[in-house]
Amino acid sequence: MQVLPNGLKLLPGFLSRSEQEDLLEEVRAKAAIAPLFVPKMPRTGKPMSVRMTNFGSLGWVTDKEKGYRYQPTHPETGDPWPDIPVKLLEIWEEHANYEKPPEACLVNYYEPDAKMGLHQDRDEEDFDAPVLSISLGDRCLFRYGGKNRNDPTKSFKLESGDVMLLSGASRLIFHGVDRIYPGTSTLLKREGRINLTLRRVTR
Ligand code: SIN
Ligand code: MN
Repeated sequence: MQVLPNGLKLLPGFLSRSEQEDLLEEVRAKAAIAPLFVPKMPRTGKPMSVRMTNFGSLGWVTDKEKGYRYQPTHPETGDPWPDIPVKLLEIWEEHANYEKPPEACLVNYYEPDAKMGLHQDRDEEDFDAPVLSISLGDRCLFRYGGKNRNDPTKSFKLESGDVMLLSGASRLIFHGVDRIYPGTSTLLKREGRINLTLRRVTR
């Protein structure tokens, strides 16, 4: 495990190719039941460039009217989210250092030109639990700073199979994805990147 100066933890190449393939297959099957949707920014309704879905008892959604929140059902189908893949629960158990299981697995799908602006993950009740993220598919340029929006930032590349943890001092740091490098992984059938983020929402 690598620990960056601000406490951000990285497990580069944590998942083998075959583990990535198995996980991807499971994500695809579950996303067929809970289809990707276009998240919209609070108030403006501006669409984000990523598409999203969730697994677990709670899923993170956002739209113009009600903004950022967690809810137990898919915003378009109205159905409960599919269960979190067991493999992900095992990774959490092993590395989250937190007694309760995650409730949400946010699935972000990045087309080659998608990105995610700097933000904090702070819609959860419990910041003692880490945010555990897994990358699949094309490489991306991940940017992180400090707890204030204006703190200086650094960037590094996240690769398919990497696991990252925002925990302790790094739990509330600003972070985002500057860009995807299309065609840098053969895992997905086409160009793009999937990020899976496990979170504990309630105490
Ligand atoms: C996120 O912060 O929700 C996603 C980060 C990533 O795609 O690596
Ligand atoms: Mn985030």
